[in-house]
Amino acid sequence: MAKKIKITETALRDAHQSLIATRMSMEDMLPILEKLDKIGYYSLECWGGATFDSCLRFLNEDPWQRLRTIREKCPNTKLQMLFRGQNMLGYRHYSDDVVEYFVQRSIANGIDIIRIFDALNDIKNLRTAIKAAKKEGGHAQVAISYTTGPVFTDEYYVEYAKRIADAGADSICIKDMAALLTPARTESLVKAIKSEVDLPLQLHTHYTSGLASMCLLKGIEAGADMIDTAISPLALGTSHAPTESMVAALMGTEYDTGLNLEQFTEIRDYFMTLREKYISSGLLDPKMLATDANALIYQVPGGMLSNLLSQLKQAGKADQLDEVLREVPKVREDSGYPPLVTPTSQIVGTQAVFNVIMGERYKMCTNEFKDMVAGKYGETPMPIDKGFQKKIIGDMEPVTCRPADLLEPELDKLKAEMPAEYLQQEEDVLSLAMFPKVAMDFFKKRRNSQAGINSDSYDPENKVHPV
Ligand code: CO
Repeated sequence: MAKKIKITETALRDAHQSLIATRMSMEDMLPILEKLDKIGYYSLECWGGATFDSCLRFLNEDPWQRLRTIREKCPNTKLQMLFRGQNMLGYRHYSDDVVEYFVQRSIANGIDIIRIFDALNDIKNLRTAIKAAKKEGGHAQVAISYTTGPVFTDEYYVEYAKRIADAGADSICIKDMAALLTPARTESLVKAIKSEVDLPLQLHTHYTSGLASMCLLKGIEAGADMIDTAISPLALGTSHAPTESMVAALMGTEYDTGLNLEQFTEIRDYFMTLREKYISSGLLDPKMLATDANALIYQVPGGMLSNLLSQLKQAGKADQLDEVLREVPKVREDSGYPPLVTPTSQIVGTQAVFNVIMGERYKMCTNEFKDMVAGKYGETPMPIDKGFQKKIIGDMEPVTCRPADLLEPELDKLKAEMPAEYLQQEEDVLSLAMFPKVAMDFFKKRRNSQAGINSDSYDPENKVHPV
């Protein structure tokens, strides 16, 4: 029986997040949006993840306006975002009323599909977001953070997939952020989940180790329904399998996507020009495009590897990268085997760096590591040894409930903190909630530019004005 495979194009979110540190601007997207809308993609992943932070911090763009513009130019294609459960797009847990409000405003501004995940695969951290998405008429897709390790058997993932289905999700995604999937594992995992859970299944993997296309094909043959790809100029390396190649590979088979290969020519040309621009400006390092099967040895996501290296360089210990990479699995084992994805990748990575630099394990612990071991981020995939927990957190009270249950509603407080002179839309409160300092700087620049003041040369707090 023929089954049309659905394609999610990641050019506007994960592809540039993976290749050029999320720096694609609205200006770069604008000329191609209407053409992308005509392809017939299942969805365009275009918002959330690091794009929100990047808009405000680096691009001087209002992320909400970006979403509305994409919605306006792409009326026929579902728009998709990535959402870190109770962390939303930030780096801490938010109270339920803020999560509900964020989901509501995302859907009201144009999002159709919210891909929700939790770094620890703790379903408790996803329930509020799933419910809110359903309430607003959105599609709640829950992504399983895929990782490897002794506890991460197919049975572990099937159990989690069942909990996801019970929580009311509309579809499931296997999110292989660190490119650890192999073709054989993809096949067994997809079969296992599909045989137990009756929900559409999407595959998300990265090309880093060179296996992505093979994984996708094996996954499709095993029953996957949707795949994530990136238009070829923004594919490969740390990004995804090329869209056109996957469309071509499936053409004429029982999995034909129904998409016309020739339609991609203009889009490819456009992104090829952008790619050249990014390479010549230094934004795209050709190293990012190289295949690195070492990802399968280190088992850490690409972004984490570069973070570790930069932390070590700052400490003048760049030569200890190998030791840190050997330390990462030990820290993971001690702390209940967290998958390595934002924010756990930073938490585990930094602790591994500390352990190596100090020459003694856990002599110094970051507050984030203590919080994770205390259960403040949620339940870890494996229980943490009580003795170890005590040693790390001392007198801190361990958290065993849903972490957000400990949070008071905070939306009213956030609204009160929003300075009236900067408020231009109700969503501004959410930008402020997510990144307080960065959003405030953005609001100031936005107001100054509307008043015709060049904020780069005028700083009211700076008494010295350049002439
Ligand atoms: Co990804």
